[in-house]
Amino acid sequence: MAIILGLNINHADSSACIIKENKLVFAIEEEKLNRQKHWAGLPGLAIKECLINSNTKAGEVTDISLNTNPLSNITKKSIYFIKNYIFGSKKKEIFSRLKKKIRIKNVLCKEFGFTKKIKINYIDHHLSHIASSYYPSNFENAICVSIDGFGDFASVVIAEGKGSQIHIKEKFFFPDSLGIFYEMMTQLLGFKNYGDEYKLMGLSSYGRPTYKEIIFNRLFDKSKILKLNTQYFSHIDKDFAYKFNGIPEQNQIYNNEIFNIIKKEDIEVHKEDLAASVQAVFEEVFFKIIKRAKELIKSDNLCLSGGCALNSVANGKLKEIHGIKKMFIPYAPGDAGGAIGSAIMTSYKYQKKKIENLQCPFIGPNFSDNSVEKFISTIDKININIIKLTENDLLEFTAREIANSKIVGWFQGRMEFGQRALGNRSILADPRNKNIRDIINQKIKRRENFRPFAPSIIQERNNEWFEFQISNNHYMETVIKIKPNKRDLVPSVVHVDGTCRVQIVSKTTNVLFYKLIKRFYELTNVPILLNTSFNENEPIVCNFQEAYNCFDRTDMDILVLNNFIFLKK
Ligand SMILES: [Fe+2]
Repeated sequence: MAIILGLNINHADSSACIIKENKLVFAIEEEKLNRQKHWAGLPGLAIKECLINSNTKAGEVTDISLNTNPLSNITKKSIYFIKNYIFGSKKKEIFSRLKKKIRIKNVLCKEFGFTKKIKINYIDHHLSHIASSYYPSNFENAICVSIDGFGDFASVVIAEGKGSQIHIKEKFFFPDSLGIFYEMMTQLLGFKNYGDEYKLMGLSSYGRPTYKEIIFNRLFDKSKILKLNTQYFSHIDKDFAYKFNGIPEQNQIYNNEIFNIIKKEDIEVHKEDLAASVQAVFEEVFFKIIKRAKELIKSDNLCLSGGCALNSVANGKLKEIHGIKKMFIPYAPGDAGGAIGSAIMTSYKYQKKKIENLQCPFIGPNFSDNSVEKFISTIDKININIIKLTENDLLEFTAREIANSKIVGWFQGRMEFGQRALGNRSILADPRNKNIRDIINQKIKRRENFRPFAPSIIQERNNEWFEFQISNNHYMETVIKIKPNKRDLVPSVVHVDGTCRVQIVSKTTNVLFYKLIKRFYELTNVPILLNTSFNENEPIVCNFQEAYNCFDRTDMDILVLNNFIFLKK
């Protein structure tokens, strides 16, 4: 039986997962362990956790599966390589990248004790994305689309999912990229860190798309599905380089030509309108790509992946495309999830049986009650009271305290994979309290006030509260409208434009979280909790110590670690 370690390595959001006995057993992103956001180096701690938590010795691992293939799109890549090798100054960077890829097996064997017999499987970047979406969807057939910055020289791949097979139909290549456009405009609007695109998306609801036409007309060739006007971009420059060695370093993707379209001094003044315009342009091109995919493939189902599938605002509007009846977006559509897609592809090389446990995002570390007790023995208890409760009492106590406007750090079970807290590492609060949002933003998250919070609703009440959806929304994958008559009942989870990034919670997806929301519903007649990730300007907390530190240094009222309640005196 093959034991497959899937890796997203030396790339942003590096991660590891393990498939053993035909089941996805464990997965985690490196950033959650080394506490460096979007870590782009070797996922060394993640690999070790995969081995420990799956009871696997390094020597037993038969395959390593990477979400990149140096041979993918080799003709296109070679032309670029030759051009830049002969005429450009990219020689050093290209050689160092190639050397790194060739040396990967030696590095991994030396560092982790894998045997020399271990097989390294290179799976194309977009095929890995598509696999991470199609196989967990359980659709019999689907239109599969991966939309990204770049991966293996392509930015978009359209494929048909049919039974257990994925057939590539069309690709869009460097330098044209929807992800690069959004990243460039994110930088231009002053959000300078890698991965800040979600901030632009949040801000876009506050503005009017007054710059949409000029941005679209000048930055894109509107007659094509996806064609950038590269005179405004620097990613084609000879000395442009991504630095993916550790913490990803962001190169400036726009050049000064952009200020002929958008005046420098207008950026701060019209930031909201610019954000709305960028989002509107993104959506227009996004729709064009999906419509093209719909033309190529006959199916009512859509599986979406790639970094652009994290744009939950655009995702929520895909129901407007005629003929798409169901949509599946995985819990980690970005590069971290590529490790899982790659491992799935390698697993299918050996056998055709469905891989188990592909829909459950709670595949990270778990901590027992014993380890809570050990942890409690190590901390200073002068300023806190700690109580252990039964499950029923815990649910009752927590639901009541939330209904009394207390803010609760909720730490339970196995950690979720992906960027969103789905109820096991979450900060929870009362959605009815309109002040809670500002309190959390200012006193706990210490972040921009425009950032929205998500509602988590129990499945059976969803249709009463939210408008029609084509995805299951178990992973907060789309932003949708709340019904007008419900809007004022939960002001802290409704964005300025009446939208919400909803999470639907069922008994099968997360039973304890489901029971907590249900208890809150019985107390308040509102079947929704405000749910935001358990962190403060850091990766989501992974262990007790990080959860406790966050509780201790912020104005969070209550911390719940498994069945233990921590209260500030
Ligand atoms: Fe990607």
